[in-house]
Amino acid sequence: MDNHIIKPMPMVTNSERYSIKDEDIKIFTGNSNMELARDIAAHLEIPLSHAIVDRFENGEIKVKIEESVRGYEVFVIQSMCCPVSDNIMELLIMCDALERASATSVNVVVPYFGYAKQEKKTAGREPISAKLIANIMTVAGASRVVTMDLHAAAIQGFFDIPVDNLYALPLFVHYYYNKGLRGKDIVVVSPDAGGVARARHFAERLGTTMAVIFKRRPEPDQNEIIEMVGDVKGKKAIIIDDMISTGGTLVKGAEKLIEKGATEIYACATHPILAADAIKIINDSPITEVAITDTIPIPEAALRGKFVKISVASTFGEAIRRNFFNLSVSTLFDQKYK
Ligand code: R5P
Repeated sequence: MDNHIIKPMPMVTNSERYSIKDEDIKIFTGNSNMELARDIAAHLEIPLSHAIVDRFENGEIKVKIEESVRGYEVFVIQSMCCPVSDNIMELLIMCDALERASATSVNVVVPYFGYAKQEKKTAGREPISAKLIANIMTVAGASRVVTMDLHAAAIQGFFDIPVDNLYALPLFVHYYYNKGLRGKDIVVVSPDAGGVARARHFAERLGTTMAVIFKRRPEPDQNEIIEMVGDVKGKKAIIIDDMISTGGTLVKGAEKLIEKGATEIYACATHPILAADAIKIINDSPITEVAITDTIPIPEAALRGKFVKISVASTFGEAIRRNFFNLSVSTLFDQKYK
């Protein structure tokens, strides 16, 4: 399985000058993605702080912050992955506890921001759940949000506190560049109209062209391909997406690309939701390999199949460091990818 874990591009901010001491900040985590939280803390070379995040007998969430946070800048790491509602409630209750314990600031690190697909009304009498989540995070005491590849960038505007929306794209560029998948024999593919800007940046950095698949969703979690635009014949294709949920978008996209003459299909996506039979249908598909990140814990079964993991721990670690030292976060993404 080790060859399924890819060493990410190095991301270090002049660490001697900007080294964080554990008396400077405190980093806590809920239960959603403890491995990533530990890796972020390890990147910063500080220990995770202690909190009990458990359940009462009646099923309610029990939180107890086990060390003083008075006057500290605190970071709380929690992904909004399955069980989504429980993980969100853990986060909210932790924010409440930290704010009441007089933390100077409660910086919420959400590697995967859930409910993001419900960011607008597409029909009458629907909610805007992403806005509701933003509201309750702020009410709970969050003073900043650090997240990655929001499904819709406009969600940043649902908050009246700062939001840093980080990108996994440089990690993918670094990976494919070093794998030799770059230049004119490659085509980058957006699997839907919403991903065109991301695919264009990706194609530019790999020095190649792009294609776009247009799809429609007759029902939630189902999709139909309407058309594909771009030249893929005789090329290796890399599909780039923000998330893999049921896997339908990727697999149908891959089949379309093969039908149009692509010779081999690779795919990458930031958030591996991997719902329902996603792992199986991807392993059974014509896709050669799928690169995913650990914004959501990756099931071992995925890493025994076609999936490879690229960790976002150093990206989040550097974003935390830069927030603490009031350095620019966006310049993290100006680095060269070789
Ligand atoms: C859609 O807008 C997203 O960018 C992804 O393409 C989609 O969520 C993937 O879902 P699934 O894997 O269920 O097709």
